[in-house]
Amino acid sequence: MKVLYNGDFIEKKDAHVDIEDRGYQFGDGVYEVIRVYNGTLFTLKEHTERLFKSAKEIGIHLQSTVSDMEEKLKQLVTENQLTDGGVYIQVTRGVAPRKHQYAESLTPKITAYTFQVKKPVLEQTAGAKALLSEDLRWLRCDIKSLNLLYNVMEKQKASEVGAFEAILVRDGFVTEGTSSNVYAVIDGVIRTHPATNLILNGITRRKLLEVCAQQGCSVDETRMSKEELLRAQEIFISSTTAEVVPIIEIDGQPVGEGVPGEITKRVQQGFQEKIKQESKASISS
Ligand code: PDD
Repeated sequence: MKVLYNGDFIEKKDAHVDIEDRGYQFGDGVYEVIRVYNGTLFTLKEHTERLFKSAKEIGIHLQSTVSDMEEKLKQLVTENQLTDGGVYIQVTRGVAPRKHQYAESLTPKITAYTFQVKKPVLEQTAGAKALLSEDLRWLRCDIKSLNLLYNVMEKQKASEVGAFEAILVRDGFVTEGTSSNVYAVIDGVIRTHPATNLILNGITRRKLLEVCAQQGCSVDETRMSKEELLRAQEIFISSTTAEVVPIIEIDGQPVGEGVPGEITKRVQQGFQEKIKQESKASISS
């Protein structure tokens, strides 16, 4: 198994993190998770552009270009002969003696590897449970930063009671999940938080909004209150690895009829078609 290690492809067992890497010590870095379908990196450009944007937002200046990075990631998938799975890529500010402030001259450390993905087929078809949690994260959730401590804590709480996701609520309004975006169908309209600093503008979210537009579903990117969420007829979440998962129970209460809703299923299907179209398109181009 090969990994991308600062520009080179090396064996995973030979890749080591310096104990003074700022990513390791401060979570000082950014990352992306990209899905591979049919040997093709799905929405590669969008993910790579978001990685560069996240890096720029925290003052990490990458020397390479988006297209160089895309080529490296494609090469990694080829090296590992990955057909179905994912790629994790991370950029840290670099290695330096530990102190909070940093020198601008540090060289960012870029690493990437491939992994297998277990599609949550059961949850996708039968639906999943969620919990509500308070959103106590910082106010730059639009940056895909390595600092995931609060997300990890709340996901763990959900997991311990058999829930698939914790849906976060800030000041009475639903923001997103710990590792997903959240949507509710309220009176036939799909509501989701606008792409502000309070959420990560998911690549899957962007694709789903395209799917909805093509299907003629109405979408309202206006934040919803916790009460509106709890009254919704349907709820679903989206992410790179989970794709689209219906939420059928929140805090022990059924959502709508307690089964995946019709609009959710239509969006799910539209997304699967998009994956097929775009994976084929990039193979033949
Ligand atoms: N998480 N919101 C948060 C907080 C996330 O961590 C993620 C993704 C999303 C969905 O984004 P996208 O559709 O681009 O995957 C929303 C990734 C998958 C992770 O950390 O594993």
